[in-house]
Amino acid sequence: MPAPLEHMQIAPFYWFDGEVIPREKLGIHPFAHALHYGSGVFEGIRAYATPHGPAVFRLREHMERLARSAAVYGLQPAWNAEALCDAALEIIRAAELESAYIRPLVFFGERTISLAPRFHCPTHVLIALRALGNYFGTGQANGIRVTLSPWRKFSSKALPSTVKGCGHYANSVLAMQDAVERGFDEAILLNDRGEVAEGTGENVFVVKNGVVRTNDRSADVLHGITRASVIELCGDLGIPIEIGPLEVDDLHDAAEVFFTGTAAEVTPLSCIDDHLYSGVRPITARIRSAYLRAVAGEDPLHADWITWVGAAPAQSSVA
Ligand SMILES: Cc1ncc(COP(=O)(O)O)c(C=O)c1O
Repeated sequence: MPAPLEHMQIAPFYWFDGEVIPREKLGIHPFAHALHYGSGVFEGIRAYATPHGPAVFRLREHMERLARSAAVYGLQPAWNAEALCDAALEIIRAAELESAYIRPLVFFGERTISLAPRFHCPTHVLIALRALGNYFGTGQANGIRVTLSPWRKFSSKALPSTVKGCGHYANSVLAMQDAVERGFDEAILLNDRGEVAEGTGENVFVVKNGVVRTNDRSADVLHGITRASVIELCGDLGIPIEIGPLEVDDLHDAAEVFFTGTAAEVTPLSCIDDHLYSGVRPITARIRSAYLRAVAGEDPLHADWITWVGAAPAQSSVA
């Protein structure tokens, strides 16, 4: 059994167009359309280490979102969501990993520099794995430092925000690089109407008077799978949840603000620019621990969120 991957280390095998191949055999054409124009779509999925082996969180939902994203760009992967779920499990097994960050990527390859690749270019599918600990590093659970970005989130009239398109992330890159340059961990982007949209790779939740609120696609956000999970967990925990637009004042008036995302999981904010939040975050803490139980396959109410890489444990051992 190979040693577990270190943080950010890449697995030795890829799944590429139906085959498991060693890393050094992957050749991407220098004129691959997606490399130049961002004409691809992707997902980020976590497999968590558990005593019962790796547990993949909401694998099917991620692969279904990937298929929907691909359809918007006219990408035509030769594998449907179910087959890609099997492929992800196959590559985790091949790499003998206990946990992983799974990156499926569906993209246009080489044929033309035309901006209508769907009529010319082949669709490729790559699934790569890497290790990923805390996305924001070791201090993440204590709260991260966030800035309101000078960059606006693109309007869904320009690019559909519910699609996880590679090219869409140019917006996130500009915002995140600006935030890091100014000493912050992450940025929140406002949309073109000046409402709160989302982080560069996370949805935003606020807590005020015991009520949790988050926005939806009408604010030009990605409908995060973690967001959907947290909304359900709030229901389980009896925490009232409201969905609707968020203004900057809602951020400042909140007792607690947190991010959700596959990479970020449930991450509290310690400040937005010079506005500080208390380190006491009872609601975020409850939601975070419910989420961490669920991703480890320890929440019997949501056993269907987990795909086991090996044999599923007996029901009584996960309750
Ligand atoms: C822009 C953006 N918003 C929100 C999210 C959270 O989505 P999910 O919870 O599905 O990972 C992500 C991460 O993929 C993202 O990139």
